[in-house]
Amino acid sequence: MTDEASANTSTGRQRAAVLRGLGTHLPSRTVTNEELSQRLDTSDEWIRTRTGIRQRYWAEQGTATGDLATEAGTRALKAAGCDGVDAVILATSTPDHHCPGTAPDVAARLELGTVPAFDISAVCAGFVYALATAAGTIAAGIAERVLVIGAETYSTILDPQDRNTSVIFGDGAGAVVLEAGAADEPGALLGFDLGSDGRYKDLITVPAGGSRQRAQGPEDDPSQFCFTMQGKQVFTHAVTRMGESSEALLGRVGWSAESVDRFVGHQANVRILHALSDQLGIDRDRAVVNLDRVGNTSAASIPLALADGVNSKEIKAGDRVLMTAFGGGLTWGSTALIWPDINVV
Ligand code: ACO
Repeated sequence: MTDEASANTSTGRQRAAVLRGLGTHLPSRTVTNEELSQRLDTSDEWIRTRTGIRQRYWAEQGTATGDLATEAGTRALKAAGCDGVDAVILATSTPDHHCPGTAPDVAARLELGTVPAFDISAVCAGFVYALATAAGTIAAGIAERVLVIGAETYSTILDPQDRNTSVIFGDGAGAVVLEAGAADEPGALLGFDLGSDGRYKDLITVPAGGSRQRAQGPEDDPSQFCFTMQGKQVFTHAVTRMGESSEALLGRVGWSAESVDRFVGHQANVRILHALSDQLGIDRDRAVVNLDRVGNTSAASIPLALADGVNSKEIKAGDRVLMTAFGGGLTWGSTALIWPDINVV
């Protein structure tokens, strides 16, 4: 345990991971529903009414997840007013390479020295998993400050001919700095509920390219390397799992659903967010929605929604904020905090 960790324990105040700054980055290229309708059998009307999405951002050719992550990380460090951290955790399911992880490269590009840096692969629940990992690292006294990033370039794994997936996903990155502090101060992560159910692993998958279905060479079917999703079944699981996880977390934290000021759910589909709000008993207008502008950005979804919520003044210092996410695996996770008075860059 570090000196600071033992000092904090000796004060009697419980040590916790506290949010100090938030930064985001989106690629410059906007892709509208109209643009997709020109090359796919779909329409702006279908996409808007079935998902709530109006546009998304796709990275230009040559831009990778690590590039977006580095930009968001730079901004989070600036927002937190710090130039160093003790660890970097990157949540992504679109890493720059299978090997090595993307986080060490991001840490080096951010000139953070030789700090531990690793990727977490929990698909759309990845950011909440990364927050939990960082909080555990801080609680154990292994680190005082951790940079947690969620970054994705789903545009690189989408099948351009698949209207079921191409209209839904966007690219982007969001990052936070967590620092050791006290559990009773604003910004402290108050608890976690995490889960997985691998029986449904095939509902969301990139079939080939791993050790199960190895790349063979030119005879490979390119579609096997693209993202697939059984949307209807995923929808049902998303509502059930995020609902149960949110309820478990609220119980753990001791909050009633009515006391939640802002509900930040994974931005997959506005119908899922409405169904979840209704199920939990949280007014729909307390749900932060930015998927209309950015689409489903997987592991970047929660930090991008938090930033938009703050910038639109929907999330204010002192608000009780509940976050919940769900993704392939299946994986899910929830956490909560009192929103702190921090910078968002
Ligand atoms: N444009 C027009 N028609 C379409 C499109 C499209 N882009 N996509 C599908 N359709 C058609 C289907 O082919 C189907 O036609 P059919 O009735 O002739 O077979 C019809 O629309 C209805 O399709 P459904 O799949 O039933 O549509 P649904 O209302 O379920 O919406 C969607 C699909 C948006 C994918 C929804 O199911 C959804 O949001 N699912 C959850 C996604 C999610 O939560 N993901 C989170 C995890 S993501 C991750 O981890 C990476």
